[in-house]
Amino acid sequence: MSEAILEIQHLARHFGDVRAVDDISFSVGRGQVFGFIGPNGAGKTTTMRIIATLDLPQTGDVRVGGVSVVDDPEKVRRLIGFMPDYTGVYANTTVTEYLDFFARGHRLRGPARRRTVENIIEFMGIGDLRERRVDKLSKGLQQRVSLGRALLHDPQLLILDEPANGLDPRARIELRTLIRELAADGKTIFLSSHILTELSEICDAVAVIEKGRLLATGSVADILKSLRRHRVLTVRVASQREQAERFLLEQPGVLQVRERNGSLEFDYAAGDDEQVALLARLVTAGFPVLEFTVRGADLEDLFLKITEGKVQ
Ligand SMILES: Nc1ncnc2c1ncn2[C@@H]1O[C@H](COP(=O)(O)OP(=O)(O)O)[C@@H](O)[C@H]1O
Ligand SMILES: [Mg+2]
Repeated sequence: MSEAILEIQHLARHFGDVRAVDDISFSVGRGQVFGFIGPNGAGKTTTMRIIATLDLPQTGDVRVGGVSVVDDPEKVRRLIGFMPDYTGVYANTTVTEYLDFFARGHRLRGPARRRTVENIIEFMGIGDLRERRVDKLSKGLQQRVSLGRALLHDPQLLILDEPANGLDPRARIELRTLIRELAADGKTIFLSSHILTELSEICDAVAVIEKGRLLATGSVADILKSLRRHRVLTVRVASQREQAERFLLEQPGVLQVRERNGSLEFDYAAGDDEQVALLARLVTAGFPVLEFTVRGADLEDLFLKITEGKVQ
């Protein structure tokens, strides 16, 4: 287990009656790409704003590199780069001016500031955009500039709020590449999304949040493994479908067999070994099995299951 760079400890933030974040705890290891997953209104932005020291916890704390956001927000700010889910409108500002403005905010001066801005422009691959106006760029390019801004002070932890939101497919691929490069560069990346398939490939681990409560944390593989004990199987037989249906209903773990497009579909509350044994029993019993498939449990599926009715 790697050392934690981000520790969220019993964090809560309510807005009146709305429990935007309701006692959540989890850690992100140094060097991880960590996904923060949840539907709209789940509490992702509220959590990220607290990590970014733009808001305070009501109870609990957040530590970045061991430093508390409550006790020493200044120090936390030097360790983190935050990309909000919106890009502010800066009329009449070129990309270079925009980055230079924020570099000043980090107290970079003279040649060091110019060098930093130039390095970021190069790293982000936005050299052609130097003199272009930020407010006239596409959403994908604006986001690139915004991410560049978050990197100016070389932070250890990057907090990206819904970075894939509103991007076209090509810009999404570019974003993924960029996230991989940043991770290879030793940065820890904490990013949120409600688009789960975007994250499954690039995240080492995820935390799933809904209505302010944490529903699951761990590696995507671990979460999938526990969910595989509830799967949907499909069996297609060349004949004897009704007999097969009755046979299936007698098997342990089989729930609710239904017919779908000539196949039998059923929920199966069991693991891999039991699934193998079930197929063997069907064949041994003489059923002419044409197909025997398990519906792929991708992260989107996982998300639906994880969020289904667990929290009111
Ligand atoms: N400043 C605020 N005042 C009142 N309610 C808020 C405020 N910020 C967020 N909320 C509410 O808190 C909940 C969580 O919001 P948010 O953290 O933005 O979720 P997410 O980013 O996951 O979509 C929502 O119900 C939202 O309406
Ligand atoms: Mg949000």
